[in-house]
Amino acid sequence: MISEKKIPAHVKVVEVGPRDGLQNEKNIIPAHQKIELIHRLSATGLSVIEATSFVSPKWMPQMADALEVFAGIKHKAQISYPVLVPNLKGLERALSSGVEEIAIFGAASEAFSQKNINCSIAESLERFQPVCERALQENLKIRGYISCVLGCPYQGEVSVNSVADLAKRLIELGCYEISLGDTIGAGTPLQAQRMLQAVADQVPMTQLAIHFHDTRGQALANIYACLALGISIVDSSIAGLGGCPYARGASGNVATEDLVYMLHGMEIETGIDLTKLIEVGHFVQDVLGCQNRSRVGQAGILKSS
Ligand code: HMG
Ligand code: MG
Repeated sequence: MISEKKIPAHVKVVEVGPRDGLQNEKNIIPAHQKIELIHRLSATGLSVIEATSFVSPKWMPQMADALEVFAGIKHKAQISYPVLVPNLKGLERALSSGVEEIAIFGAASEAFSQKNINCSIAESLERFQPVCERALQENLKIRGYISCVLGCPYQGEVSVNSVADLAKRLIELGCYEISLGDTIGAGTPLQAQRMLQAVADQVPMTQLAIHFHDTRGQALANIYACLALGISIVDSSIAGLGGCPYARGASGNVATEDLVYMLHGMEIETGIDLTKLIEVGHFVQDVLGCQNRSRVGQAGILKSS
């Protein structure tokens, strides 16, 4: 049962389009267009824009230009530009380009961990340990992702305890925030609440973020259900781009335009200019020649927000 008592007054929106969105595009987008997208997003009031990922180009050719993209960004002081890093090699590359924040990424499902990063959950934690130690020595902030928190494309159900245990381990490794990813968009609102509550019993709610893919049209409903439990950090992707090549059939993230429209309609502050955001959605749609999955991007804004 949804109670609205804990709905926050402000939500931090973490834009993941340049990474989660573009990693899933069949065609490789030129670095200069990725940089242009990040610059346009930087002018909307967003405070976090995930820029790229320093993963193996053999596994993810779409992100092979991470160094060039990161070097090309004109950083704004009040914006964080985190990057994904899977191992020490990725960290070295990220450090050489001057990043200030990284994100490590594990999974609550053994099968997905193997498919996505080629190791078990336990091995991934062993791999993350030296990455986090080094990153902390370098004064980097570390975000942690957990994939498949509401279901796995290979093994089906995922227990909430395995999500909560992994979240606790990632915090112990030095992550300041854990993003809970419904990678395949399988969850529904009550499941999302039960999972979030189980994790919040182990890790403070203020250190948790939610990351919903919209495969079955549940993302906004799930976000609303989690807002009611007090979550105040939400990941989303411009124009609803996104997905993961290792989660076949999973569609994009919740569209940032739709998320911000809902939050502003609920009188929740984001600091984001929705009109500018919609323009960026149209820009990226033109670049990719794709259908914008944001409903707000297609329909426009009804009231000033
Ligand atoms: P591996 O094949 O086991 O690693 O991959 P390896 O150490 O044997 O290396 C293989 C080759 O890659 C070697 O090159 C390495 O040097 C190179 P070779 O000697 O054959 O020429 N290599 C690298 N090159 C550049 N940067 C690196 C790097 N690492 C190795 N960092 C590995 C293991 C983790 C590297 C690989 O599996 C990988 O990169 N996986 C990433 C997959 C990925 O990007 N998935 C999508 C992101 S996660 C996601 O989308 C979910 C999320 O959005 C949340 C959600 O929705 O749930 C975050
Ligand atoms: Mg994702």
